[in-house]
Amino acid sequence: QTTETPDHYSRCLAAVEAIRARHAAKPTLGIILGSGLGNFASQVENPTVVPYADIPGWPLSTVEGHSGKLVLGKINGVEVAVMQGRVHAYEGYAMTEVTFPTRVLGLLGCEKLIVTNAAGGINVSYGEGTLVAISDHINLTGHNAALGPNEPRFATKPNAGARFFDMTTAYSKTLRALAHAEAEKQNIPLPEGVYLAVLGPSYETAAEIRAFRTLGADLVGMSTVHEVIIARHMGLEVLGLSLVTNMAAGVLDQAINHEEVMEIGKRVERQFTSLLVALIPQVSAA
Ligand code: HPA
Repeated sequence: QTTETPDHYSRCLAAVEAIRARHAAKPTLGIILGSGLGNFASQVENPTVVPYADIPGWPLSTVEGHSGKLVLGKINGVEVAVMQGRVHAYEGYAMTEVTFPTRVLGLLGCEKLIVTNAAGGINVSYGEGTLVAISDHINLTGHNAALGPNEPRFATKPNAGARFFDMTTAYSKTLRALAHAEAEKQNIPLPEGVYLAVLGPSYETAAEIRAFRTLGADLVGMSTVHEVIIARHMGLEVLGLSLVTNMAAGVLDQAINHEEVMEIGKRVERQFTSLLVALIPQVSAA
């Protein structure tokens, strides 16, 4: 099944019920952790940990380095729902499965969503380990997660849930400004960049990366855009953060390997954690 169908909404509600049965407090901020950034979930105080396998309809990840659980509780005073692990289209999942968790986060009560990912750096001013605030995206996956009959009940606020919805403000200017201000305060470089999404799982060729640079991309990755599209359909405000785990194909004279991608996450964990922990109450209040 590659499009949303009318029963998709009730499947999402069943997952919401299962989560609420385990954790009564309502999260207002959802956080999706990218490859190598999963340890951030340990920041949740008195966490309720719900393995994805315990949530009806929730897709289970097959890729290494993505342990699958939803961690609920407070970070810096804010009730959050943190996704440690996500599934990707390249694993063979339908779009409806890739974005099922985003739908559930919205229905749980999240008004804001922080999406993070590991990405290849196309912009040569970046280096391995650079954190980047996503300013916009280019979806070259050939898929759109909102495909199917429109379901207005997914709206989390008035004017959301429309058949055709705006993407010009997909990555909130307000939330980005908060991220830049906090990064500056903490002396963490935080450039902005355009994230281009491919399907994967192969990394790109050097020619593709040259083409993507011409198209205006600064980052390349295999996630995030579907979740952001669905979040915007529901009316959630989005902050996107990429960790440049490697320079994209052909930028440096070396091959890309997944172990390296995971390794960089550990290297910047301290910066990433202190930036995000400080941002959480600000994003929540914005
Ligand atoms: N390409 C695509 N996805 C990625 C990369 C890359 O170079 N690095 C981390 N995720």
